[in-house]
Amino acid sequence: MTDTPIEALTHLEAAAELTRLGARIRRLDQAYHQDDQPLASDAEYDSLVLRLRALEARFPELARPDSPTRSVGAAPVDGFAKIRHAVPMLSLDNAFSDADVAEFAAKIRRFLALSDQEAVAVMAEPKIDGLSISLRYEHGAFARGATRGDGAEGEDVTRNLLTLADLPRQLVGAPEIFEVRGEVFMARADFLELNRRQEETGNKPFANPRNAAAGSLRQLDPKITAGRPLSLFVYGAGEMSEPVAGSHHEFLDRLRAWGLPVNPLPRLCQDTDAMLAFWREVGEMRADLPYDIDGVVYKLDRIDWQARMGMKDRSPRWAIAHKFPAEQVTTRVAKIQIQVGRTGALTPVALLDPVTVGGVVVSRATLHNEDEIARKDVREGDRVVVQRAGDVIPQIVLVRTELRVGDPAPFVFPDHCPECGALAERGEGEAVRRCTGGLTCPAQAKERLRHFVSRDAFDIEGLGDKNIEFLWDKGYVRQPADLFALEAANAARLEKLENFDGWGKRSVEKLFAAIRARRVIAFERLIFALGIRQVGEATAKRLARHYGSFAAWRSAMDTALVNDEARADLESIEDIGPAVAAEIRAFFAEAHNRDALDRLAGALEVIQDARAPSHQTSPVAGRSVVFTGTLVTRTRAEAKARAEALGAKVVGSVSKKTDYVVAGADPGGKVTEAKALGVPVLSEAEWLTLSEG
Ligand code: IVH
Repeated sequence: MTDTPIEALTHLEAAAELTRLGARIRRLDQAYHQDDQPLASDAEYDSLVLRLRALEARFPELARPDSPTRSVGAAPVDGFAKIRHAVPMLSLDNAFSDADVAEFAAKIRRFLALSDQEAVAVMAEPKIDGLSISLRYEHGAFARGATRGDGAEGEDVTRNLLTLADLPRQLVGAPEIFEVRGEVFMARADFLELNRRQEETGNKPFANPRNAAAGSLRQLDPKITAGRPLSLFVYGAGEMSEPVAGSHHEFLDRLRAWGLPVNPLPRLCQDTDAMLAFWREVGEMRADLPYDIDGVVYKLDRIDWQARMGMKDRSPRWAIAHKFPAEQVTTRVAKIQIQVGRTGALTPVALLDPVTVGGVVVSRATLHNEDEIARKDVREGDRVVVQRAGDVIPQIVLVRTELRVGDPAPFVFPDHCPECGALAERGEGEAVRRCTGGLTCPAQAKERLRHFVSRDAFDIEGLGDKNIEFLWDKGYVRQPADLFALEAANAARLEKLENFDGWGKRSVEKLFAAIRARRVIAFERLIFALGIRQVGEATAKRLARHYGSFAAWRSAMDTALVNDEARADLESIEDIGPAVAAEIRAFFAEAHNRDALDRLAGALEVIQDARAPSHQTSPVAGRSVVFTGTLVTRTRAEAKARAEALGAKVVGSVSKKTDYVVAGADPGGKVTEAKALGVPVLSEAEWLTLSEG
């Protein structure tokens, strides 16, 4: 993103930046809310949102209808039933400084036209770092619960919530309809224990307690959730058939009296000084609390005043979150290690003297690449400041050169692969140095196997890093097809494996069952699993859709090696282009890749992904559709792309030939035209049911 002052931007530049920023924030939202895999630190995310808001404030006419400032989080994922929230689930504005907090308090007075003499009580409470949840009680009995989703509609996770020990099934004396909101989270000790179990069973550990909580609550099988230690705090209201309190602090007291878990720390503050004092106190306790918090939330206490202040697009005016800065700790770099990735990239990693940062023990931090080490001048033995910015991989912020002992030598980046000894080269204009050993490099081969079995590829449970290492070292598995051969040779191998430490009969059987289950695989997953450079999930999907079948793709790739037309066809696919096409051809140019792929394909049944219905089977194939009004679940462009992928024709105006008009919010004239012509008008939800089934 650019840092050009907003005042200096032209209209054109602002429009371009708004588009870029919006897309980036949406991608981050998606990764955070749907994939439980944060791609950026909280601080980085917040600064992007701040910049977007500032741009929209300066250029309101350029604000996009699909801007992330107009929605919260990301639309629900497939697999759970959807629940529409009777009262939308909002997000909070952020305060980053004492001045922001003072301004929040001043704004309350201005908005409500209160005199300086009038007391304004504000409740301050810790901001729990989990995922928000809405719990609905009907006639005192727990009826259902939903995640936030996009704020308007979330996922029905009732069955999973019923596995939480903290959740009361009955509330005695609650109104007929009573919705309470709160946060599901995982205590740090429970998180560490869960990760220990994950690693033991060969599964991927979670990045942080928040991701672990989200991943556990959103399991399609409640039995899995039941085995995960989830906790709950409630702090807010949704729909209520009658009010239960006149102030927020009384409201929390009522919740407590009904047996709902309420955090013990909230404090009623009479002025800004008291609010800031609470923030500092809680900030000091932070590292010692048994759960992660990422700030303090201030809420206007009087509920009638809350109602008068109302809300903005995605957040209430009567509450604000005061974030804590990322936690930073000083520790020592014991060693700089070079890791070799699946594509041969040499990545430096700092091995640290273990320290607790934000409640999690940190013993490694990425150094990104050669230039980054030089820029920060990190040397072995240095004291460094590390930061865990809420989540993701810890970063090294800076070297405390004043604490440097003696004169350690600057780090020399190797020009040979530390794993196989082959030359490591750095291409022109590239930041990364790569091992040229190819398949002869065991580190690359092992990483490729890891990628092959990972969640978004073949997703083989029970094959964590340790087991891959083991199977490789024993020489049982050298390439993907060997996994299936291992399973086919069942009896003999089973006995061999069982005799090794940590491989009981049951775990071997489970592993074989997991491998067997993947003999039928979606075409796009197979492509992604091959680990071809620059071929991520999106590109794999495009290839699968374009070529239609494995056999067609396989032979087209052979042809593309020698034939310009086939090559042009490959390059014509959206988002592929010459660079990606060259990587794909490079993969097929190598005989051992072709052999490994053919051996693998021989063991599999490759199918088109069942979730992507082909043109012939979709009920909207060949139909002509007009979209009008504001859509909720996706942007207009996405809706159009999806409809076209299903074989529908998307047109701009209504005529007798139009099959459907899909009307979002505030639809305007097209609906009237459709009615006059007798063309069916569908709501967005009806369209989704019709087209996606
Ligand atoms: S009140 C209408 N109170 O923070 C006000 N939220 O960044 C809605 N959160 O979506 C939220 N602790 O998931 C509130 N004590 C607390 C909270 C809290 C954590 C989460 C919540 C919300 C998010 C906003």
